[in-house]
Amino acid sequence: MCGIVGAVSKRNIVPILLEGLQRLEYRGYDSCGVAVFKNGELQRARSTSRVAQLAQQVSAEAFDGLTGIAHTRWATHGAPVTHNAHPHFSGVNGGQPKIALVHNGIIENHDELRAMLQAAGYVFDSQTDTEVIAHLVHHHYESDLLEAVQATVKMLEGAYAIAVMCRDEPHRLITARDGSPLVLGLGHSENFLASDALALAGTTDQIIYLEDGDIADLQVDRIWIYDQAGNPIERPAQTVHAHTAAVELGPYRHFMQKEIFEQPRAVADTLDDLQAISPELFGDRAYGIFKSTRRVLILACGTSYYAGMTAKYWMESIAKMPVEVEIASEYRYRDSVPDKDTLVVTISQSGETADTLAALKHAQSLGMPNTLTICNVSTSAMVRACALSYITHAGVEVGVASTKAFTTQLTALFLLTLAMAQVHGRLTEQAEAEHVRALRHLPVAIGSVLALEPQIMAWSERFAGCENALFLGRGMHYPIALEGALKLKEISYIHAEAYPAGELKHGPLALVTDQMPVVTIAPNDALLEKLKSNMQEVRARGGELYVFADADTKIKAAEGLHVIRMPEHYGHLSPILHTIPLQLLAYHTACARGTDVDKPRNLAKSVTVE
Ligand code: M6R
Repeated sequence: MCGIVGAVSKRNIVPILLEGLQRLEYRGYDSCGVAVFKNGELQRARSTSRVAQLAQQVSAEAFDGLTGIAHTRWATHGAPVTHNAHPHFSGVNGGQPKIALVHNGIIENHDELRAMLQAAGYVFDSQTDTEVIAHLVHHHYESDLLEAVQATVKMLEGAYAIAVMCRDEPHRLITARDGSPLVLGLGHSENFLASDALALAGTTDQIIYLEDGDIADLQVDRIWIYDQAGNPIERPAQTVHAHTAAVELGPYRHFMQKEIFEQPRAVADTLDDLQAISPELFGDRAYGIFKSTRRVLILACGTSYYAGMTAKYWMESIAKMPVEVEIASEYRYRDSVPDKDTLVVTISQSGETADTLAALKHAQSLGMPNTLTICNVSTSAMVRACALSYITHAGVEVGVASTKAFTTQLTALFLLTLAMAQVHGRLTEQAEAEHVRALRHLPVAIGSVLALEPQIMAWSERFAGCENALFLGRGMHYPIALEGALKLKEISYIHAEAYPAGELKHGPLALVTDQMPVVTIAPNDALLEKLKSNMQEVRARGGELYVFADADTKIKAAEGLHVIRMPEHYGHLSPILHTIPLQLLAYHTACARGTDVDKPRNLAKSVTVE
């Protein structure tokens, strides 16, 4: 999704800006651009192609400068075309613009502001909400860019991170945030800003995280920060070791395939040589917080939400702890009944998902201070906002479709379940030892499921020709069916839906014909016999079943019943193993259909707007 980089220096900053954009590329974008001062004038280059193409354009135009801003855009207001790409200009006079601005987020009152600015004579070149901010800054500008930005942000409703330059103050950048992430990077005789510390990796590791309402004034030798009330404020600099190494594809065809195959290592790293269960795995204050917890509220989006749904089954079964799981974008806008003894858990790969962050803040504002995040990015806003955290060590996930992030989230959630059970006296030493053993063996078990890839590839040919598919699961495998359906639709564009198998006869059975493949997750658990009856219901209507069956289920292939045999049932951790073949099925089906697997249409990796 959108990314921002900015720099003010005594050297040419164009390579730093382009490298920063490249580091943010994997998040997904549809256009990009950069603006610098050159010979006392603001100049920009924009492209609806990749950052590499922008770099060629910039080099052909001998584009350089000491102060500049750059952006990757993921379209919200206005199509992904060049005139909507950032930076946006204002105050163009005789071809020379006065203000250049980049923006992440969404301005909700852009229509009224646009009408007001048009009445004041401003002409708009784009359909974006961002151009409104550029004109507003120009409208307020007298002789001080900081004052103009301070006046501007007072008029904005919605979420923003902005970076602004002014022709009359060529060695100065003003930046502001509210609801969208923004960091400052400290250098020697140069300073930087970015929407994520990752963009500055390799340039500086001294990072200041701005708070909502902050405005910062960056010049070559100093940074000033002001809070919402306009008072000067100190924000601490932290040393942040963001990943600097480029993520290599290696022998794989796509990052998604690589990341699927990285799961044994990612899960092992997340377990971090686990020897015993302890609440301290989640932070120093975890014992006290868990002890006072009477109820758990999980907030998340997409795949992370399905991880939360799975955890509900574990927590209620093993820790006997009541759990509610809510889609973050729903929770934040509905009336709910807060309870101070609730542990609010957010789950997020990126830790920057706007809806999840806002839901977390909403829960906190309702008087629920006990918060925990399960997150793959230790420096993210969510980790900083929560009292407790568990960092999944999946490593950088490039593919938009989440794979290793999901299985590592599940691993962390299982640990949370065991820690909660232990604190509440519901985990015997023997049970703890058995669970730890199963967890430690999990990477090997995942490896044995990955070995099924050739069989799954053979099935994918059939799926590639379909436009619809159903996924069935029961109990704690129902969220896994949902995740399998999401993976398939996300990257192959096949319409897929998932149901708890017992729900079939209450409606979706009407869809079952010989044209509808029905993927069934068949672990050898207490619900197996019920599931077999549901499978009969499908077969009786001519539906073709594609079953992932544990070795000990005794389900055998027959006409219209295709079976891939998984290892023996893996108990509570079975949902993690059953995720793997669904990822591979989606991946190979998408490959067979020739879609852009790592960057599916319309989607972004890090969803930083609501
Ligand atoms: O970074 P997060 O885990 O908060 O992201 C949440 C969802 O946007 C994400 O899981 C999305 O559903 C994935 N693309 C699914 O593969």
